[in-house]
Amino acid sequence: MTLPSHVKIVEVGPRDGLQNEKIALDVASRVDLIQRLTAAGVSYIEAGSFVSPKWVPQMAGSEEVFAALPLSDQVTYAALTPNLQGLERAMACGVKEVAVFTAASERFSQKNINCSIAESIERFKPVAEQALANGLRLRGYISCVVGCPFEGAVAADKVAEVAEQLLAMGCYEISLGDTIGVGTPGSIETLLTRLLRDIPVAQLAVHCHDTYGQALANILRALQMGIAVVDSSVAGLGGCPYAGQTNNQAAPGNVASEDLVYMLDGLGIEHGIDLHKLVAAGRFICEKLNRENGSKVGSALQ
Ligand code: HMG
Ligand code: MG
Repeated sequence: MTLPSHVKIVEVGPRDGLQNEKIALDVASRVDLIQRLTAAGVSYIEAGSFVSPKWVPQMAGSEEVFAALPLSDQVTYAALTPNLQGLERAMACGVKEVAVFTAASERFSQKNINCSIAESIERFKPVAEQALANGLRLRGYISCVVGCPFEGAVAADKVAEVAEQLLAMGCYEISLGDTIGVGTPGSIETLLTRLLRDIPVAQLAVHCHDTYGQALANILRALQMGIAVVDSSVAGLGGCPYAGQTNNQAAPGNVASEDLVYMLDGLGIEHGIDLHKLVAAGRFICEKLNRENGSKVGSALQ
């Protein structure tokens, strides 16, 4: 079995996690969480998003979150930017890395960002141009890479087409979102086999929600196929508020960072994170939100 010797963990809890909570957490607590994650050795954190606060009120105040974070060469604090307005907000508070996000399914794209996939690509082109011209790094997300809550199964060819468009505009990496966690090691393998025909493995990351309990198995399959960047969320927080069949039904949690770290430790793969400090960060945020811990490892080590 060939596995990468080092995995980069992209911690999405402060964004993907908190965007999906019923209550909007205050800025000081968001910053506190991010600082605890940094202290645990997490070196890449999606700290907020500059989307419309009418669409996602939980991410309002991302300016203040970024303003409170220290400038660092060791840690990347990234943000989602759906359009130029979002990029301008991000640049105004010194964000150095942003992500654009679209989907491989039309209906999900409409629900999430209010435009078609093709329109989203056109919308992102000036975002990419300006971001790169200003020295920012640009990541790209594709949602619904194996299944869509509204359209069902999604073809790997469609994901490949969207990925090529995002790479062509200058994204250094594509994060493949199994937004509703319907993937299995089988469908993830089919997807990656198709993508790896055209895209270098170093430009792909996986972003697995754990709705059906398949996330760790899917990640392991991706690691075996050479993927070395994995998104995860402390305490398994998260989901996209626009991924439910109804407006009140959001996609359940991401793979928990604690569970991912525990698995990587068991496989002898380096990641740079202190598991016990990460578990403490997970406990902190669960207490703040008064919710159950979505990490099995976090619960086991309490
Ligand atoms: P729209 O309504 O079509 O936008 O929304 P618009 O350009 O027509 O503007 C309408 C209003 O929104 C205007 O204000 C704009 O100023 C404002 P008004 O004149 O009515 O007062 N507006 C903004 N305000 C602040 N910042 C901005 C911004 N843009 C417009 N950047 C839009 C289009 C994309 C903005 C909206 O649909 C949106 O914000 N969607 C974001 C949805 C979202 O954040 N979803 C969750 C993140 S994606 C995810 O979780 C999936 C992922 O984790 C991977 C996976 O799991 O698959 C990444
Ligand atoms: Mg997500």
